[in-house]
Parts: sequence; C-alpha cells; structure tokens
Amino acid sequence: MKNSRRKFLRNTALGISSIPAVSFIGKSNDNQSLNDISSFLNKSAQTYWSEVRNLFPTDKNDTYFNNGTLGVQSNYVLNAVISDMRNNAINGAKTDYKGEGPNLLSGYDPYESIRKKLGKLINCDFKELSLIQNATFGMNFVAHGLDLKKGDEVINTNQEHGGGFAAWRQLAKRKGIIYKEAIMPVPANNKQDIIDSILNEVTKNTKVIAIPHIISVYGTVMPIKEICEFARSKGIFTVIDGAQAVGQIDVDLKDLKCDAYYSSLHKWLLSPPGSGILYLDEKISADIWPTLSSYNWDNQDDKGFSLQQSGTGNPSLRVGLEASIDFFNMIGKDRWLSRVKELGKYLRDGLKEMDNVEIVSSHNEDLCAGLTTYKVNGVTGPELQKTLWDKERLQPRSVGKELMRHSVHIYNQKSEIERTFNVIKSLS
Ligand SMILES: Cc1ncc(COP(=O)(O)O)c(C=O)c1O
Repeated sequence: MKNSRRKFLRNTALGISSIPAVSFIGKSNDNQSLNDISSFLNKSAQTYWSEVRNLFPTDKNDTYFNNGTLGVQSNYVLNAVISDMRNNAINGAKTDYKGEGPNLLSGYDPYESIRKKLGKLINCDFKELSLIQNATFGMNFVAHGLDLKKGDEVINTNQEHGGGFAAWRQLAKRKGIIYKEAIMPVPANNKQDIIDSILNEVTKNTKVIAIPHIISVYGTVMPIKEICEFARSKGIFTVIDGAQAVGQIDVDLKDLKCDAYYSSLHKWLLSPPGSGILYLDEKISADIWPTLSSYNWDNQDDKGFSLQQSGTGNPSLRVGLEASIDFFNMIGKDRWLSRVKELGKYLRDGLKEMDNVEIVSSHNEDLCAGLTTYKVNGVTGPELQKTLWDKERLQPRSVGKELMRHSVHIYNQKSEIERTFNVIKSLS
C-alpha cells in the first residue's frame, strides 16, 4: 500500500464507535491499542491464557477445537478487517486513483510491508514471497508453473490433503507425468521410517518431491529438513505443503532448504480466511511460470510480486492479514508456539491414560504439535463429536467413520481439555 494511502487510513475514523451494530468488536486498530492489549496481558501472568481467550469472539459457552480446518480470528484482526471494509465503502469516492484515498483493490499492489513482516516470521526475503489465497493456490502455482514433461516422476505421500495432491494427479492425466505415493506409517513414531518411505520411491526420473510439513489428518510433523537435504543433493525439486504449519510450529525456510513452500495462514496464524503464501527460493524462482498472469507477470526483480498479482480482491483481508501478524508478534513467537505444543501434549498425555482411547497420531513428541487424532472404542467419530457438543459444547472434528481430530490453539484452556476427558471417560 502506498504511504499516502496508509496515512489516509490512519487519519480516517476507524473506531468501533462508528459501527455500533457489530457489538463484539473491541477497540480500534492502531499500534496503541495493540500495545494496550500487550501490557494488560503482561500484568496478569498467572491468568495470561484466560485473558488471551477473551481476545477472541467465540461464544463464551463454546469451545472451538477445529483449528486444523480454520482458525478463529482475534477481535483485533476482525476489527481491522471490518473497519477497513466499512471505511473503503464510506470513503471510496475520495480516491483519485493516483495514490490518494483508500486502497480499494488488493490484487495489484506489491504489499511489501506485509511480505517483509512475513519474511521475518518464516526467515526469507520478501521477494521470495507471494501473497495468495490459500495452500491450494500454492500447490497449483508450483505444479503448473514448473515445466514437467511426460515420464517425469513426482512423489507425494498417501496422506495428502486435496490441496496437496490434486494438481499433480491432474498433470499425470493431462501430461503423462508419473505420480507416486510414498506410504506413511500409522502411527508415525519413527523419523527414519518416514524418511525411508519417501526416499525409497526416488528413481533417476524423480523431478519433484511434494510433501506436507504437517500431515492434515494425523498432525505428524514431518522431517522435512532431512528429506530436502537429500533431494537437493540429487537435484530433485522440493515443494512443501505448509498449510498446517505456519503458526503451529516454527517454520524457518532457510533452515529447511526447500525450493518451494506454501501455507494457509487462516489456519494456525489466525489470519482472515483467504490468506495464503507461496515461497520460492530465489535460486529457483526463475524456473516457475506464473499461472495467473497480470501486469507484473514478467517482473524478474520481484518474482514474488509476479506470482501474486491476481486482479480485484478484498484489500481489507490484507489489512487483516497484517493485523494477524502483528497480533502473533504481540504474543511472541516462542510463547505462542510453546503454548500450542503444551496444550497438544496435555491432551495426548490425558488420552494415553484412558483404556478406551487409541491415539493414531504419532506417539513420539518430537513429531507432534497441536493436532492429535484418536479413536474411542465403541463410538464412531461422528457420534463422539455429537456427544462432546451435546454434553459440553466442545467442537473438535471427526474424520471419516472412526477418527477424531482434535486441534488446540492459544485460545483453548486446559479446563476445556479436561472436560473432553470427562466426556470420553463417561463413554467407557
Ligand atoms: C495439509 C493441507 N494442505 C492443504 C490444505 C488446503 O488448505 P486450503 O483449503 O486453505 O487451501 C489443507 C487444509 O486443511 C491441509 O491440511
């Protein structure tokens, strides 16, 4: 966003008092209010996480345990989005479209400041990053942007989300590439078993390894670094589906050394729905054609921008995205990520004590974070989901007939996990 536009937004009334109908929204979104929230939280360290819960709008009687599908936006983020959208509608006539006035379209600007903040968060240069809609776009941009030919081999796992496999399967049908799936162990307790199952699929024709950083159904944190290191030594392109990773675990792209990485920030970073990123290592980015082309399609200096331009979109979602990064930084990366892990472990430790529960996620804490999947004997996943909701208004997500996938995030409380245990115990 151009400076003049940003200044214009700051100088315009964005506060809650102008939108009384939206009563759940908190304060206005300037830096001052984030500082206020932060100092308020720091003062009451003992009740820190219950205070954090109050920064989210979820109905006080309900517990959301389905972050793996979509995160909840904080009031701070919601306020940023809604205020900005309202402001654009009110003040749209004031723009001369040469720099002054609100920014009405999201698909044309480079959004350098947001990309720089994200680059700091996941350790890369902003020109290696494109703001896109979601992980599915990321997979497609890489698969269709690479020049793969008949007979080239691509390795997926057998535990991909549709946002991790579909573009590759389409290329198999359309162009005759060879699509292969490495079979993942369940539960995946041993790092080397995972590495071996993928590397066993490699042949002299392997051109791409496309695997998740965190497996959608089981929550396994994959040994990406080791796999990328091997791939690099053989000249194999690596693309990592990080839809579940950014905001759940530490993502350091320069340490992982993958060629491409994409994520959906509306899951664990708690950004507005429709907030995704694509990373292309500067060393390989020239090899990827833009799938969606607009004015900057051939911008070789800022490759990230060349893949990002997408025509008209909602700029308020970009404002919300920036607010979500600021919110994350306000809590602090270490505190945020260690809380996700702490709650995940708390859940797993409690479930392990129960005779009627079988955990199908990894039993190796090194391969676990905030997603845990399990079965309860004698009860289907959908039945368990309904019982948890009916008895205690707890909402994890069942997967298929048998499994329950339970996500935990910074807005969850240990007491909510304990209430889950009580319901499951009552079923034995
Ligand atoms: C591992 C993985 N990849 C891709 C996706 C697709 O994400 P989106 O719908 O945001 O594109 C998901 C969604 O759950 C996922 O878990």
